[in-house]
Amino acid sequence: MTINLKGRHMITLYDWSAEEIRQLLHLADRLKQEVYTGTAHPLLAGKTLAMIFEKPSLRTMVSFQTGMYQLGGHAIYLGPDQIGLGKRESVEDVARVLSSYVNGIMARTFSYEAVQELAKYSAVPVINGLTDFNHPCQVLADLLTIYETRSHMKGLSMVYIGDGNNMAHSLAIGCAKMGMHFTCVCPEGYDPKTEAMDMAREVGQKTGSHIEVAHDVMEAAKGANVLYTDVWASMGQEKEKEERKAIFRDYQINMDVLNVTAPDSMVLHCLPAHYDEEITKDVVDDPRSYVFKQAENRLHAQKALMLATMA
Ligand code: CP
Ligand code: NVA
Repeated sequence: MTINLKGRHMITLYDWSAEEIRQLLHLADRLKQEVYTGTAHPLLAGKTLAMIFEKPSLRTMVSFQTGMYQLGGHAIYLGPDQIGLGKRESVEDVARVLSSYVNGIMARTFSYEAVQELAKYSAVPVINGLTDFNHPCQVLADLLTIYETRSHMKGLSMVYIGDGNNMAHSLAIGCAKMGMHFTCVCPEGYDPKTEAMDMAREVGQKTGSHIEVAHDVMEAAKGANVLYTDVWASMGQEKEKEERKAIFRDYQINMDVLNVTAPDSMVLHCLPAHYDEEITKDVVDDPRSYVFKQAENRLHAQKALMLATMA
């Protein structure tokens, strides 16, 4: 049965049921096949997406913009100096004005509250394109990558190595929704936020997924089905970069770590990558790495999200 997702915001995967997420993955898979066979699908013709960026981006910006173009619509880039979200004008007023012009708003902001506030006052769907707290669109693409290469998702284990950051939060919740086990392996003091882990554990109780935090990389990586990592210093933490390099030194995906995982394991990284920090180049180039397929899947997953919510 098709669930009607029109008008829905994507602020956190927590708000979406497993069935709704699966529906997006099916739709993404179909749209991807249509791109490959050259079948046009201008299903958002005449519609516009506003894209608010308070931080830099390659994947998010280009995949949303291209996605809208492929769906027959149009996207407008609004950079940090343009609208001054919450500075030149309140978030509420931006949401009310923008949503009277466009059919969807994608926002990459520092604070999670800003995206929540946009959704509260917007008359059109708001999509979270990354905040300091989470990155649900990235995880949709990650789940699509696992979904299209594995016969099942339930019961698979994902081991995330690195900072307990926005990616760790969204991955924990996304894995829990799909019944996948999730372990965040990080240095002491860099654990993911309790709030996010509690949300994931609550979901996991229903889906049978175990959500853990650990500190020993080799121990956690043994037999893992999916290895995942992200930068040690996220956008906004540039000043801590050098200090973090020393603290996170042992929290790296390299061949030694990859070789203790399950025989058919896969490696994922949301990118951008910092080679010889959180991941080595030989791992990214290994056949077990799906990193660039994963990056491509941002396009297909987000097109499904826009089509389902904005058509
Ligand atoms: N993974 C990701 O969101 O990349 P960008 O920061 O380049 O958008
Ligand atoms: N944790 C990273 C993710 C980048 C896609 C950051 O927020 O910079």
